[in-house]
Amino acid sequence: MSTAISPTAYNYKVVRQFAIMTVVWGILGMGLGVFIASQLVWPQLNFDLPWTTFGRLRPLHTNLVIFAFGGCALFATSYYVVQRTCQTRLISDGLAAFTFWGWQAVIVGAIVTLPLGYTTTKEYAELEWPIAILLAIVWVTYAVVFFGTIVKRKTKHIYVGNWFYGAFILVTAMLHIVNHASLPVNLLKSYSAYSGATDAMIQWWYGHNAVGFFLTTGFLGMMYYFVPKQAERPIYSYRLSIVHFWALITLYIWAGPHHLHYTALPDWAQSLGMAMSIILLAPSWGGMINGMMTLSGAWHKLRTDPILRFLVVSLAFYGMSTFEGPMMAIKTVNSLSHYTDWTIGHVHAGALGWVAMISIGALYHMIPKLFGRAQMHSVGLINTHFWLATIGTVLYIASMWVNGITQGLMWRAINDDGTLTYSFVEALQASHPGYIVRALGGAFFAAGMLFMAYNVWRTVRASDPAQAEAAAKIAVVGAH
Ligand code: HEM
Ligand code: HEM
Repeated sequence: MSTAISPTAYNYKVVRQFAIMTVVWGILGMGLGVFIASQLVWPQLNFDLPWTTFGRLRPLHTNLVIFAFGGCALFATSYYVVQRTCQTRLISDGLAAFTFWGWQAVIVGAIVTLPLGYTTTKEYAELEWPIAILLAIVWVTYAVVFFGTIVKRKTKHIYVGNWFYGAFILVTAMLHIVNHASLPVNLLKSYSAYSGATDAMIQWWYGHNAVGFFLTTGFLGMMYYFVPKQAERPIYSYRLSIVHFWALITLYIWAGPHHLHYTALPDWAQSLGMAMSIILLAPSWGGMINGMMTLSGAWHKLRTDPILRFLVVSLAFYGMSTFEGPMMAIKTVNSLSHYTDWTIGHVHAGALGWVAMISIGALYHMIPKLFGRAQMHSVGLINTHFWLATIGTVLYIASMWVNGITQGLMWRAINDDGTLTYSFVEALQASHPGYIVRALGGAFFAAGMLFMAYNVWRTVRASDPAQAEAAAKIAVVGAH
């Protein structure tokens, strides 16, 4: 094996930009989450203004946390991982910069239009057509940068993390473009190209795979790089990772109808979605086990390394939410859980426990390296953040389980004469304590992000540009 020093360097600038914006949007998106959670406790916080009502701010929360926070984390880590595992610089600095600025423009577009009430009304696809078109252009550019970099790689094979990132990029483009097909009637109003049950099915084919490919497959790409790196162990099983990849992407795409149980969707489609969702447990757990077992022989590191704790606990929540999801996809279970806070609890077990925790762990691993530092300014603060995030997530999901099951049971309770035992308002009153606990849990989680911002700021401030430049050098070429 030959080892030569290359004078070229990785493009860390775009990675740094996306990494910093992940923290910024994380604080805003989660701060807004705490605000809308508080509105459900104290409705006066709607202020009787159209722009500040729960109905308008809720989609802004989901767009900010999924696309701004999660999206920036995915851009940052995928650009970092693809360069390092391919031992080459991104194919184009200009195109990479375009994806950064274009993505921020999409987010600003969401911040302006959603509170003003401009929306397609399709969940997670609310942005009106001019913004959706910009998003599509940015995304295709992202695909060009990512796959172009893979094509010019200096390594022989393509590391499995890149397979996951690649599938996430391709499928997200497909979903976004198909689901957004619409007829514009003016600058900020359009009508979907589909109608009735077809529209619903396409929307949830999109919606579920936004979960499957955006919130899962992309973050699994992250898992396959950062867990072995932080644990300083090779991935437990390369073979399992390949089986995991093909099984996951083959199954996810069929599961969308579990969002439309007991609707006008044909019954066979609902049952197919249910069956595929149950089978999905297997590859999901295969991936989780592959990540967890990577720690074999390194478990003791959890005692001293809070970054590894973030990564491992995120896998535990991933395992938990991908057990819960298939159960909720069973029609009889769904008849209880649907429309209740149980769904919200499931969402945040995945969103806070898995998506946010793995992103936070990856950022703490990456940021010192991007800024030429040995480690973060304070390991103690990472630990504080870890506990705030873990306790916050547990408070959030436990309160939503209690609320969800209470609501489901109260709504379906009937008296001997066939009338409802409880009015809707009684179920709402019973949910109030849970809403207080959820807001508290959310505040814990968001407070942790503020500690992170301070820690990142101190690390960046102490950064030495010469060392940062040296860290970006591609040291090893041709060693494979
Ligand atoms: C401090 C943290 C957070 C708080 C307090 C919070 C709070 C909330 C609240 C109150 C809702 C509305 C629930 C309802 O309609 O009854 C919601 C919805 C949602 N949030 Fe969060 N959230 C937080 C973080 C996140 C993160 C990090 C993500 C994603 C990565 C996320 C994704 C979502 C999604 C997808 C929904 C819509 C769920 C559905 O329609 O079933 N949230 N959040
Ligand atoms: C094997 C994996 C999974 C399966 C089979 C699954 C299944 C389900 C089911 C049955 C629902 C309720 C649908 C309804 O009653 O309306 C649901 C909702 C949801 N799940 Fe999962 N889930 C899985 C994993 C995840 C993960 C890991 C995340 C997050 C990272 C997630 C995010 C969501 C979101 C955001 C919703 C709410 C959608 C909405 O109504 O707005 N799921 N999931």
